[in-house]
Amino acid sequence: MGERPKDTRAAGTAAIELVGIAKRFVSKRGTVTAVERVDLTIGEGEFFSLLGPSGCGKTTTLRMIGGFEEPTQGQILLYGNDVVGVPPNRRDVNMVFQSYALFPHMSVFDNVAFGLERKGVQKAEARTRVGEMLDLVQLDGKADRRPKELSGGQQQRVALARALVNRPRALLLDEPLAALDLKLRQAMQLELKRIQREVGITFIFVTHDQNEALTMSDRLVVMNAGRIEQLGAPREVYERPRTRFVAGFIGTSNLLTGTVRSLDGGTAVLDTGADESIVVPGAAEAGAAVGSPLDVTVRPEKIVLSAQRPDAGRCAVRGRVTEVVYLGTSTQYAVTALDGSELLVFLQNAADSDDIANRNDDVWLSWRAEHCLPLGEPLSGASGPVDVTKDPSLVAAS
Ligand SMILES: Nc1ncnc2c1ncn2[C@@H]1O[C@H](COP(=O)(O)OP(=O)(O)OP(=O)(O)O)[C@@H](O)[C@H]1O
Ligand SMILES: [Mg+2]
Repeated sequence: MGERPKDTRAAGTAAIELVGIAKRFVSKRGTVTAVERVDLTIGEGEFFSLLGPSGCGKTTTLRMIGGFEEPTQGQILLYGNDVVGVPPNRRDVNMVFQSYALFPHMSVFDNVAFGLERKGVQKAEARTRVGEMLDLVQLDGKADRRPKELSGGQQQRVALARALVNRPRALLLDEPLAALDLKLRQAMQLELKRIQREVGITFIFVTHDQNEALTMSDRLVVMNAGRIEQLGAPREVYERPRTRFVAGFIGTSNLLTGTVRSLDGGTAVLDTGADESIVVPGAAEAGAAVGSPLDVTVRPEKIVLSAQRPDAGRCAVRGRVTEVVYLGTSTQYAVTALDGSELLVFLQNAADSDDIANRNDDVWLSWRAEHCLPLGEPLSGASGPVDVTKDPSLVAAS
């Protein structure tokens, strides 16, 4: 391994850098690759999420940052220092587990004070610091209660206070809201954001809930099978999914496949086999080649339905409506295109809109070319080197 390129750091101080991290668990039953390869730079003060389906390696990645697991390969830098081999309590990070792990026989106060006592912090100072933390998580009146006398959300706040009282530089949170019901969960999402703003430290947040990741994060990675599929700000990842997996995992996506008929200045014209053509800007960058198949995606809310052929400037395909579902503020139309693709369209129910189409109607679906996104290979992974020119926050181990 040579030197890491210097121009690939996230802006500002890097709090955490993962360089070519991999983790394999070896047992009598065989080898499990939990993390295939992860390269990542997380900035100081960021709210950063690891998002992905069950088993994709989120917890393993977080546990390696926290020091509860050692990587099989790669480097972990916390504030520039290589911490591989350094035990969890000597790293400047704290972890909040899904199962709170509070001491049931201790009061809220003692639960929060526990770590400070073990560190030998003076009683008076500990008292002040615990008080501040209970204030921060809005549990100041509940210091004497036992955990079982608290709601799930309140217990989660105690777990947070207990981690934050140690003044870590980064907090690692593994699905901390998973046990809460939807309403409480949403309230705690806002709480967590407020707390992170107030304490100003880096939060690394693990979730398999896309809404949670999209609403809370400054940036996030989408993980799949131990690899990073995409990294970016929530809007970027939602608006410009770069792989088939991300398009399918985040929000609802329509997938279309065609053959590249021509490539001009990076823009492809795609044959869908139904005497229609689809224009795909940015296709060359996604690896499109003339004569080869290319997957593209269009979000359901970017598509317009019409009975007549739309303006020549729009990309359009024909199809037949197979389902109309009224959803209150919007209506969802399922359409089978001439080439057999199933497409979904969401249309807002505006004050002046009548029924746009009914079941079995023949319709045109159209969209602006810029809303048709080419899908390619994941940025990082075993399949090839990371292209750092495309994403400055990914660090290539060269
Ligand atoms: N100690 C271990 N020994 C063997 N295999 C493990 C171990 N820990 C995790 N794995 C395997 O590694 C893979 C990744 O696990 P991990 O817990 O990181 O997933 P996750 O993304 O956190 O999933 P979830 O959303 O279900 O919590 C899984 O296939 C899991 O079975
Ligand atoms: Mg997990």
